[in-house]
Amino acid sequence: MKNILFVSSEAVPFIKTGGLADVAGSLPKAFNKNEFDVRVIIPKYRIIPDHFKQQMQYRTHFYMDLGWQNQYVGILEMQLDGVTFYFVDNEHYFSGDQAYEGGLWDLEKFAFFSKAALSCLPAIGFHPDIIHCHDWQTGLVPVYLKNVFNNNDFYWNIKTIMTIHNLKFQGTWDPKTIMGMTGLPDYLFTPDKLEAYKDANYLKGGIVYADYVTTVSDTYAQEIQMPFYGERLDGLMRARNNCLMGIVNGIDYDEWNPETDPMIPYHYNAITFRKEKYKDKCALQEELGLEVNADKFMIGLVSRLTDQKGLDLVDYVMDQICADDVQFVVLGTGEAKYENMFRYFAWKYPGRVSANIFYSNERSHKIYAACDAFLMPSLFEPCGLSQLMSLRYGTVPIVRETGGLKDTVEPYNEYESTGTGFSFANYNAHEMLNTINYAKHVFYNNKREWHKIIDRGMAQDFSWNNSARRYEDLYRML
Ligand code: ADP
Ligand code: GLC
Repeated sequence: MKNILFVSSEAVPFIKTGGLADVAGSLPKAFNKNEFDVRVIIPKYRIIPDHFKQQMQYRTHFYMDLGWQNQYVGILEMQLDGVTFYFVDNEHYFSGDQAYEGGLWDLEKFAFFSKAALSCLPAIGFHPDIIHCHDWQTGLVPVYLKNVFNNNDFYWNIKTIMTIHNLKFQGTWDPKTIMGMTGLPDYLFTPDKLEAYKDANYLKGGIVYADYVTTVSDTYAQEIQMPFYGERLDGLMRARNNCLMGIVNGIDYDEWNPETDPMIPYHYNAITFRKEKYKDKCALQEELGLEVNADKFMIGLVSRLTDQKGLDLVDYVMDQICADDVQFVVLGTGEAKYENMFRYFAWKYPGRVSANIFYSNERSHKIYAACDAFLMPSLFEPCGLSQLMSLRYGTVPIVRETGGLKDTVEPYNEYESTGTGFSFANYNAHEMLNTINYAKHVFYNNKREWHKIIDRGMAQDFSWNNSARRYEDLYRML
């Protein structure tokens, strides 16, 4: 039996801001339970829903040094779907309105979390063979493990994996402040270790000290070794490329299942979608105050509203996208300029554009079920889960060929009758518009072909079945 500990700043169903939560919450369920005991540790945020907090059981508490401070660490525990989750309790750090509050505060909070996740292991009696870390928030785990906890034999044989879900966020601040705050020794703050471009960099620390580095698609694993996608760490990625691998994400096929989904009004599967899926469209049109018309081409977009997601392209040609024969439904929150842009177009095109500027899991399920196409023109996309949810719900993805989008959506080829979606290569608004118009053309003028694209999309398997086996191989190898 191998013991694995996931350390993550978010995990469904407890706390989610993006795809990281889906991965940290659903991947652990997919491992072979006879061979791997996979547990997860996350912060006990105040904003975790109460009904979960009531199920958590107290395990232990102690006090831990963090730089010049001495902090309370409480550990709670809960089982969900056969997986053990641990929660790090500390009201000073985790009482905010959001999981991420920005600035130095987040760096302190996640330094605390990372050190606490290591410190609690002897007390809870779990000895991981591998600690699997996710993104910059947990970058200090391998650093603390190899440089601070190495004087305790409990920790000697533990290996670490750093999974990069998004290289853009690195967790950086000036080295002096970070040194004092984390209590890490000064010899770590050099360009071959924690320092990058004069700042201390959590993610870099994780990449340097982890035994293995993974990212969430093959294409992104290649892309980040080049300057355009490398976020100034491409040199480091090249230096570590013999220990770097891409493993594409999956999604939870029980939660995301149009045949049983309790959040959508009409159910369908790979056979019945032809007769049923449009009912979800009409129900959503009604709910959102759009013109109720089963034949209208409906495009969906569910996303964090940031520049990563290619929204500048959308802004540039939104008037052309919103032609008479199109409906556009967006669900997302993020940068004010994008939120306002969608509010503006909803005001300009009433009955055709719906801007849902908030977070709602239920609304997202309804959009994946209702729409004909799903737009994801990302500037970069480590993996992307929304296009996988779309494929699962018979909604045809229209994507830019980058990162995981390139690896999971096969472009439609009308001559060979292959492909599961539509894609374009360059970060160019007119290329995107042409691709949308091409998809619209097939939708309106060749329904049989459109349905075959859906057939192929729904036949894909992006459950965790395949990718969990690849992580298992990696765990065995380490
Ligand atoms: P990222 O992790 O970069 O945000 P992904 O495509 O990997 O992108 O994952 C995004 C996840 O977050 C998807 O499950 C998507 O449905 C969900 N999501 C994003 N914005 C919202 C929102 N406003 N309401 C509900 N779910 C959202
Ligand atoms: C990040 C990426 C996204 C990926 C997700 C889960 O948030 O932006 O592409 O799907 O992590 O790995």
